[in-house]
Amino acid sequence: MPLISSYKEEKMDVFECIRNRYSYRGRYKNTPVPRQDLEKILKAGLAAPSACNKQTTSLIGLDDPALLASFTDLVKKNGFEGEKPPAGVCVLTRGILSYRDKPFYVQDYSAAIENMLLAITGLGYASCWIEGQVTENTETQEKFSRLLRLADDYIVVAFLPIGIPEIEAKHPTYKLFSERAWFN
Ligand SMILES: Cc1cc2nc3c(=O)[nH]c(=O)nc-3n(C[C@H](O)[C@H](O)[C@H](O)COP(=O)(O)O)c2cc1C
Repeated sequence: MPLISSYKEEKMDVFECIRNRYSYRGRYKNTPVPRQDLEKILKAGLAAPSACNKQTTSLIGLDDPALLASFTDLVKKNGFEGEKPPAGVCVLTRGILSYRDKPFYVQDYSAAIENMLLAITGLGYASCWIEGQVTENTETQEKFSRLLRLADDYIVVAFLPIGIPEIEAKHPTYKLFSERAWFN
């Protein structure tokens, strides 16, 4: 209950957050991200729906410069073109079955990530859903796990940098509404 009620106090126009969210891969200003904001972002992630309410996603908020430098180096080695942020989130999952023989943890953490990206945008920060360059090889994932001292049943699936963007980046081109959505 405290999670939901404290999150409800935020006054954000959700449609504005949806419109403004984009993947930022440039340099960040040195301005620190207050713990209070980081906590709001984590709470937004934890408030996401999960199949059968199994809550398979866990999150680690990051504001330790050494850890952030290590994680940025790891994803850069896999081709990420962004820079070290002042804060971030590591997204963890447990690969369990949610309903009978069905796993839904990918959907669970995807919902959590999108909630966080919208909260990040709403608070005036930029981010990027870095998953491909985290899960590209098990070596990278294991390095993340070791740095975070994770228990064996947690898998690192994504890293979200958080910070104030130094440059104004552009949204990519999206297909037209009529190409991807229909009525009746
Ligand atoms: C499942 C998933 C994995 C992604 N992994 C990466 C990644 O590893 N590195 C990266 O730079 N962007 C990654 N992205 C971001 C996409 O490239 C980006 O969302 C897409 O190009 C559309 O751009 P936009 O986010 O600015 O709208 C990922 C997005 C999703 C949904």
